[in-house]
Amino acid sequence: MSGGIVDQVRDAYRTEVGADPAGVWSAPGRVNLIGEHTDYNAGLCLPIALPHRTAVAAGARSDDRLVLTSLAPGLEPVEVDLGEVSPTVPGGWAAYVAGVVWALREEGYAVRGLDLVVDSAVPVGAGLSSSAALTCAVAAAADGVFGLGLLDTEAGRHRLVAAAMRAENDIVGAPTGGLDQTVALFGRAGQALRLDFRSGEMSAVPVDFAAAGLSLVVCDTRVSHSLADGQYAARRASCERAAAALGLDSLRELSPADLGRAEVVAALSAEELRRVRHVVTEIRRVDACVQALRDGDWDEVGRLFVASHESLRGDYEVSCVELDAVVSEALASGALGARMTGGGFGGSAVVLVPTERVDQVVAALTERFASEGWGAPDCFVVTASEAARRDR
Ligand code: GLA
Repeated sequence: MSGGIVDQVRDAYRTEVGADPAGVWSAPGRVNLIGEHTDYNAGLCLPIALPHRTAVAAGARSDDRLVLTSLAPGLEPVEVDLGEVSPTVPGGWAAYVAGVVWALREEGYAVRGLDLVVDSAVPVGAGLSSSAALTCAVAAAADGVFGLGLLDTEAGRHRLVAAAMRAENDIVGAPTGGLDQTVALFGRAGQALRLDFRSGEMSAVPVDFAAAGLSLVVCDTRVSHSLADGQYAARRASCERAAAALGLDSLRELSPADLGRAEVVAALSAEELRRVRHVVTEIRRVDACVQALRDGDWDEVGRLFVASHESLRGDYEVSCVELDAVVSEALASGALGARMTGGGFGGSAVVLVPTERVDQVVAALTERFASEGWGAPDCFVVTASEAARRDR
């Protein structure tokens, strides 16, 4: 991995605590190839784990205190008693960490206080799931320090996913749907994961972009629109309302053909109908993309990326001008496809580009941002990487 941070957190732990940590664990950020805003609708997603990771050095304490240090600039150390953890305590970055240990205890695991030092190579606020990288690295660390053995089995990793989700939902207050935590704990090098949030089924889909002469470029717009949090919850609520109005457990039960049925149209507002149309068509695009990847039909993968972006922009209304500019500029300068990835309202896009055109596309994106008077985007090539693990 970005070798540095594993050693850095271990060394910082020695300085802070005056002893060796029990170990160092890490977990990756992610990009979702396609299947956006579908996880909380019992739908399908197709993420990969990123090479960018968050590392945690940790050791047990004899009391119930969590003594937390981050090496990120500007973040103060935090101390909190495990018994005090709540939606308001400790707040800030430490809520993600404390929330995971709290969730494991709530689930009945014998966890206590921890000394913990964290550092991250996952860009924060870029829509690349730095939060899941953090919660899942902490889950892996707590598992290792207290000998829970959950990281060693598939069923155990699902328990860690649940704890990381509970930390975000119940302590941080972000109603996220499970995509990020699942790929952080199950991603594999060279493979995307097809995740089915209705059946719980997970299957690996090989993605060897390089062998096809292609590169997957992540373009971080470096904008984060402040309405994001409330808007995510609002989209989710709107989907739940629509499912309830139709008497369904989830929007997964609908097919594209249902969208034109008179009783469906009558039961929903015009806005709900657009939200539902995104979810229903996006779920179909995931399996179309899996098929295109298996067939090596990269033009089709590119077309599906663009169709997904259009649906997120027009029907789901979670894009923004910067993301739309990345997509149109990337296509105009030689990409096969591009789309926003993650929750939206800023953050990153994924761009599929013939490798010999990567420089040209990145230059075009950079120029476009400059001509609009926006700050420079951060573009980098990624490959599908590994899930949470023990590093030391
Ligand atoms: C965020 C959430 C995920 C998922 C995506 C949109 O990343 O954390 O659960 O809903 O948005 O696909």
